[in-house]
Formats: sequence, structure tokens, C-alpha cells
Amino acid sequence: MNFDKYKLYTESVQSPEVDAQFFDQYYRMYNGQEALVLKEDFCGTFLNSIEWIKRGAFKKAICVDLDPEPIAYSRANYLSQLQPSQVERIQIFERDVLKKSEEKVDVIAALNFSTFIFKERKKLKKYLKRSLKTLNPKGLFFMDCFGGMATQEPLEEETEHKEFSYFWDQDSFDPVSHNAQFYIHFKPNGEKKIKKVFSYNWRMWTLPELKDLMIEVGFHDVHILWEGSGPNGEGNGQFARAEKGEVCEAWVAYVVGQRPPD
Ligand SMILES: C[S@@+](CC[C@H](N)C(=O)[O-])C[C@H]1O[C@@H](n2cnc3c(N)ncnc32)[C@H](O)[C@@H]1O
Repeated sequence: MNFDKYKLYTESVQSPEVDAQFFDQYYRMYNGQEALVLKEDFCGTFLNSIEWIKRGAFKKAICVDLDPEPIAYSRANYLSQLQPSQVERIQIFERDVLKKSEEKVDVIAALNFSTFIFKERKKLKKYLKRSLKTLNPKGLFFMDCFGGMATQEPLEEETEHKEFSYFWDQDSFDPVSHNAQFYIHFKPNGEKKIKKVFSYNWRMWTLPELKDLMIEVGFHDVHILWEGSGPNGEGNGQFARAEKGEVCEAWVAYVVGQRPPD
């Protein structure tokens, strides 16, 4: 198997079509109108943006990531597959999300726990303030968050795919700082395991911390979207507004806030 880490990553942890549809529909349900511009922060291979612009001829996307590697990969492998009229609706910036920007957008998505990169409250606050300024009035900010008892102990979980296995490795967790080290490994069928293909050193922020910080910087109606569960007790991929969650080993949720209408 030709080892392509971004292809394996996407197959293992991303659902860009589902995510783009979710943000689009949630905005319409919340504001009663269509969102046109998505900003995908920490965009990596910016697949959510690619799915977003496919959802309508007036939709645009702004993608920001520090790392030139996933951006170059996506330009070569995904952007090249789009029509010119689609490509011109995607703007890609290789820069720090903390840098000032001039764009105005309807939705900001910070996904795959990327805000956990900011370990200091001051930095996360700066990012949230910038995001609030970047949103149009009524614009929505979404970030995902995960937690639960099983996410705070060393463990390695294997998920088998058709041509490879994906490993989520929780290497360490420090209860004092809430800093944690995670790795992603892959094992193509019939080949050796390729270790530490992706590495994440994160602060495990809690939902109330994130919610409080968003309120503090001025977001309106900050709320949590909690995942429902299927018959086997596992998450069913359906997220709904919740004031309370259930205790579970591991959970994923979204924190959402609106830029107040003018
Ligand atoms: C966990 S990955 C998420 C990638 C993608 N959003 C996804 O859903 O899979 C985090 C990404 O954030 C980028 N990143 C980290 N710090 C950043 C910063 N300060 N500004 C912009 N991008 C950053 C990394 O280069 C990496 O591509």
C-alpha cells in the first residue's frame, strides 16, 4: 500500500460532507437565512471548505492553517479536482489564526479539537475575540470538544478499516495542568505499524471553561450541542442543544456561540 497519511487520516477521523451540511443547516435553522461564507480555522487539508462550496454557487470559504504541508497536499489532490468556478470561491491562507484578518464570515468552524492547541487561557481568549470580530452580525462560531473518564487515562484503541488499522493512542494525561499527549498510528494491512504519524499535545479544556470564556469575550447565546446515543449506547452522530449531558466514558460535543445581531 502506498502510504498516504492524509488519506488515511481523512478516512479515520473526518466526515467533511456531514460537517458542512450540519453547519449549513444549523445556521439556517438558527438564523432563518442562508450562511454564505465559512471560515475553516486550523483547516489542515480544508476538506470541510471544499464540501461547503459544493453546497451552493454563492457559497465561499476561507481556510487558515500554519502548516504548508496539508495545504499543499490538498491543493494537489482535492482542489485540482474542482471546477474553476468552485476553486475561485476558496481562499487559502497559510498563517496563524491569532493574526488579525480583514475577512467577514457567517460561520467559523474550529474542528478536531484544534482549540486545545492553546494551553493558556490568555491565548484562547485572544483567538475567541478575533473570531467574534471576524463574524458578521448573527454569525455562528463552532468548536468541538471531547472528554470523559476514558479520555484521561493511557490507552490505545484500534479501529480496523478495509486496507489499514487506525490507532488512537492516549499516551499521557496530567490532572494538574489537564495537558495530554495523543498520537495517531497506522498499520497498513500486511505491513509494519507506522507510529506517531500525527502527534497532539493538548490542554483538555472542559465544556464550562470554554462556555464561560466565550461569554466573557461577548458571544451571545453560548450553548452546547450534545451527541445523542444509539441502541448500543454509542454516539449516534446527531447533535442537539442540551443543558445537561449524561455521564459517559468518552463524549464529543460542540460549543456554539453567536455574534450578537447589530
Ligand atoms: C488537529 S489538526 C486539525 C486539522 C483539521 N481541521 C481537521 O479537522 O482534521 C490541527 C491543525 O491546526 C494547525 N494549527 C496549529 N496551530 C495553529 C495556529 N496557531 N494557526 C493556524 N493553524 C494552526 C495545524 O497545522 C493542524 O493542521
